[in-house]
This record gives sequence, structure tokens and C-alpha cells, in this order.
Amino acid sequence: MSVLLTGGTGFVGSHTAVELINAGYDVVIADNLSNSSADVVDRIGRITGVVPPLYVIDVADKTALNKLFDERSIDAVIHFAGYKAVGESVARPLMYYRNNLDTALSLLETMEEHGTRIFVFSSSATVYGDPETVPIDESSPAGSCSNPYGRTKYFVEKILSDAAAADPDLSVVLLRYFNPIGAHESGLIGELPSGIPNNLMACITQAAAGILEQLSIYGADYPTPDGTGVRDYIHVSDLAAGHVAALRYAQDHKGCEAVNLGAGRGFSVLEVVRAFEETTGVHVPRRFAPRRAGDIAMCYAGTEKALKVLGWRAEKSLEDMCRDAWRWQRNCGPGTDP
Ligand code: UFG
Repeated sequence: MSVLLTGGTGFVGSHTAVELINAGYDVVIADNLSNSSADVVDRIGRITGVVPPLYVIDVADKTALNKLFDERSIDAVIHFAGYKAVGESVARPLMYYRNNLDTALSLLETMEEHGTRIFVFSSSATVYGDPETVPIDESSPAGSCSNPYGRTKYFVEKILSDAAAADPDLSVVLLRYFNPIGAHESGLIGELPSGIPNNLMACITQAAAGILEQLSIYGADYPTPDGTGVRDYIHVSDLAAGHVAALRYAQDHKGCEAVNLGAGRGFSVLEVVRAFEETTGVHVPRRFAPRRAGDIAMCYAGTEKALKVLGWRAEKSLEDMCRDAWRWQRNCGPGTDP
């Protein structure tokens, strides 16, 4: 079975390519390399023994997409490609709406023309906004997102559920990610933030490596056990395995299902920093800073549906996530010469 991964050289896409190839799928990657590098396909090849074909195209470009679909027989699409920086989306909302909606629409139209009826979407827990209760399960209200990036995820979810309602042959799975961190245990692929990182683990590893002077801990006065923000961190390889499970599910079911991909428990910023220091033996220079605009206090996933529907659950520990993120940072991460 042949699976197209849009954005397949990115952080989650590349790890999913590895899991799919290991599970016996044929993977084709489409990526415009706007936030990733072409050598990721060789690294996927070093891990799996298979270098997936890479089409360097813009997924919104229907002519290029049609050519790809004509050349390859694509049975399913996993759609990762998209802009994903929350702050940038506030500053440049039109760019976010244009890119993230156009890519999804072009893909859906091209799939329809070629008879490809399986679509797995890289969505986000951000669609839940500031939750009233935790854990957040899939019946929690969605749509009150605090930024344009989150709204693009929500709007594409709606487009997909409308498309599935209109076409009984279409099978859609909306995967709502919590906080993916870590890296492949080989140390060959991982997250490569361009410029100053935003996400917690990238800031921790760069502070530990001396690239950042120190980690800023945004807020010590949240209504959480130690006052710092609580999130549901999930190892990116576990998350990738969740995509394989979603694809298997979509092969046997029609309609549209939203499923959380999280580990189902929360850790505070301070707990993550301490786990990193204990696992790696490396000190993380840090300071407390004011709350970051738009952040919520606490967020973690209800995971029953993922287990029941997909037969999947996260396996790796916070220590695994810290160890693998640090290995990646030292081997190939920002500031190294891989
Ligand atoms: N944090 C710090 N210092 C930093 C970076 C983060 O203290 O330098 C804290 C944040 O305040 C938050 C926690 O670490 O409490 C996690 O922050 P991240 O930026 O790593 O992740 P977010 O939960 O803010 O955002 C993530 C994804 C978004 C997605 C969102 C909701 O990055 O794409 O989850 O699912 F929209």
C-alpha cells in the first residue's frame, strides 16, 4: 500500500515515515522544504534501509500534485504539511489561512480525481482551546482556539468532516496531537527549529548545550501543583506509531473520526527540566519569567478512544523523551555540524 506523506521531511512526518516503512508500507514524500531539509530522506534510509521518493513541491500546487498522483499510485494521504508557529500566525494570519487551507483543499480535490479515499490529518489539541476540565476527551468542545494557527487546524477538520459526510467512500481520521517531543532513538532525525525555538524541549536542549543562555520558565503562578504549566508530552516515535494505527483503522472504516494522540498524563515545566537533568546529568540554566501570552495552565489527553478505536497507546517515558532529545541535539541538532 502506497502512502503519500505531505510534509514528510518535517519533525512528525519523518518519524511517521520510519514507522510506516518498518510496518511494510510504501512511502512517498511531498515537501517544499520550507522548514526542513532534503537530507532527511537519506537519514530515513539509514534507519529503515529504504530511501522514500521525495517530491519537492508545494502541496497547494494542484498541477504538481496531479503529476505526483499520475506517477505514483497513492492509496492514502497523511497530511502534515503546514505552517505551525503560533506567534507567527498572529502576526501573519492571511499567510496561515491561505497556506494551511489551500494545501488541504488541493489535496482533497486531487485525491477525489484519482480515487484516493483515505485521509489522515495532522491536527492539534489546540482545537480544544482552554479546556474546562482535564483530561480532555474528544467530546470536549472544539473551536475556541486562541490563535489563527489553531483556527486553521479547526477549519481543516471541519472541511474534512463535511467532505466525509458528503462522500460515503471517504475515510478520514483527525489526529489531535498533544505535545510531541523527543527524537528517533538513532539520533539521526529530530526537531530542527529554525531560529530561536519556541517549544519547551528545544529550549531545554539548547540551553543545556549552551546555544541559549538560559531557559525562560514562563509563569510560576499557574493553578498547578508547582505553579508552572502542565502539558501532555508524548514521544514523537509513539506519536508516529499512532499514525500507523490510524491508517490501519482507516483502511477498514468510512466516515470521519477525531482521536487524541497523547500520553494521558501531565508534567509541569519544572518536572520536565528535572527529568532532563536527572536523565542526562546535564544542568539546564534557567530563570523564571512572566507568563507567555496565550498559554493555558493545564492540558492533557483523555486516551480511551485512541486505545478503543485505534488499539494504540503511548509507551515511552519522560526519561526516554529527554534522553532521545538530548542525543539528537548533540548528534545533529542546531549548532552541530552533522
Ligand atoms: N515553556 C516555557 N519556556 C519555554 C517554552 C515553553 O516555560 O521556553 C512552557 C510553556 O509556557 C508551556 C510548556 O512549556 O507551559 C509547553 O510549551 P510549548 O511551547 O512546548 O508547547 P505548547 O503547549 O504551548 O504548544 C504546543 C504546540 C502547539 C500546539 C499546542 C496545543 O507547540 O503547536 O501545543 O496543542 F498548538
